[in-house]
Amino acid sequence: MRSLDALLSQQGELSGSRVLVRSDLNVPTDGGRITDDGRVRASIPTIRHLVDADARVVVVAHLGRPNGEVRADLSLAPVAERLGQLLGASVGFVGASSGAEAVQAVESLTPGGVLVLENVRFDARETSKDDGERVALAEQYAALSDVFVSDGFGVVHRKQASVFDIASLRPSYAGGLVVAEMEVLTRLTDDPGRPYAVVLGGSKVSEKLGVIAHLLQRVDRILVGGGMVYTFLAAQGHPTGTSLLEQDQVQTVRKLLADAERRGVDIVLPSDIVVADRFSQDAEPMVVAASAIPAGTMGLDIGPAAQREFAAALADAQTVFWNGPMGVFEFPAFAAGTRAVAQALVDSPGFTVVGGGDSAAAVRTLGFDEGEFGHISTGGGASLEYLEGRVLPGIAVLDQTTGEGGAP
Ligand code: 3PG
Repeated sequence: MRSLDALLSQQGELSGSRVLVRSDLNVPTDGGRITDDGRVRASIPTIRHLVDADARVVVVAHLGRPNGEVRADLSLAPVAERLGQLLGASVGFVGASSGAEAVQAVESLTPGGVLVLENVRFDARETSKDDGERVALAEQYAALSDVFVSDGFGVVHRKQASVFDIASLRPSYAGGLVVAEMEVLTRLTDDPGRPYAVVLGGSKVSEKLGVIAHLLQRVDRILVGGGMVYTFLAAQGHPTGTSLLEQDQVQTVRKLLADAERRGVDIVLPSDIVVADRFSQDAEPMVVAASAIPAGTMGLDIGPAAQREFAAALADAQTVFWNGPMGVFEFPAFAAGTRAVAQALVDSPGFTVVGGGDSAAAVRTLGFDEGEFGHISTGGGASLEYLEGRVLPGIAVLDQTTGEGGAP
C-alpha cells in the first residue's frame, strides 16, 4: 500500500496535479446542523498536506444513504462549509459529483485550492452491485483527477465506485488517516496486550454476531450492553419487556454463549438495567434487575451496579476495544452507562480504542477529552469488519493496484 508520504515526496510533480481525495465526511446532522464534526476534523491533515504541496484537491464523500436519490437534507454543502472553517481556507463546493458541471468546477480550481463535490450517493451507480455500473462512474471520477488518495477510513469496507473502483484507474495512495487507522487495527490483532477486553453495544445484535464469534478466539472478555444486550438476556431465558429484541437471533446467541464458556472467554452482561415505559427524553427512569425487566417497560441503559461491574472488568485490561453505546446516551437520563464505560477507558492503564460511529460521537458529546483515549477511530463498521477477519475492499485494492499510469 503506497502512502501519502510517498506521494508527498514527489513534491515538484504534485504541484498543480488534480488529486481526488475520498474522505469520510458522513457526520450526524440535525436539521442541517452538524452535531458532531469529528470526521471532518479527522479529514483535515491529509487535505492540508496536499494543499501545502500545491495540489488541486478534489474531495469526494457521501452523507447518509440516499440510494441514488437527490435529497436536499443530505447535501454536502454544509459539510464543505465546515471543512473550510476548520481548514482556515476557502473551500469550493459544486452541486454535482461527476459530469460537465463537476469537470468545469475542477478546471477552475487553482493549485492549493480545495473543491468538495456533491454527495456521491446521489448517483445510484456509486453503490451499485453491478461492477460495470460502478466502473462507468469511477471512470468519470478518473476524468476529474490525476491521482487518487483514499482517506475515508470509515468507508473502506464498502466496494463502491469512489472507494474501490477508482483506485484501479489512477495511481492510488492511502491517506494519512487510513494509514493511522490501519496501524491501530493491526496492533489490536497482531499482538494485543492482555487481558484483552472488548465492549460491544449499539442496537443490532445481528450485525455484531460475526465479530463476536471471531473475537471469541482472540480476546479474554467481552462486555455486552446497549440495545443488543436484550437479545442476550432473552437467550438466558429472562423476560425483556418491550426492549429491543431480535427474536430470530436468540438461538444463535445461545450457541455463542455456550461457545464462549467452552473457550473460557468471559461474557460480561449487566446485572441491572435502567428501564422506562416509553422511548422518550422525559420518560421516568427506573433501575431493575436485568433478570426481571417488568412487562411494559423497555431497557434504555445499563444500571449502576452494571456500571461498576463493567469498570471492574476493564480495570486490569491491557487492551480495550469499545464499539457501541451502552444506552440511549442522547437522553441525559439514560447516558450514565455510556459515560461509565468511557470513564473506565480513560482510567485504564492499557491501550484503549473507541471503535468509531456512535461511540466516538458519544465520547465527544459527553464532554470527554479525546486525548485521554489511545485512539478514537472514525470507522465503526470498517473496524468491526476488520476485527471480524474480513477483507476490506478499499484497502485490498490499494494493496493490489498501483493504478493506471504509475506515478503521477
Ligand atoms: C459510516 O458511517 O460508518 C461510514 O460513513 C459508512 O457509511 P455506510 O454504512 O452508510 O456505508
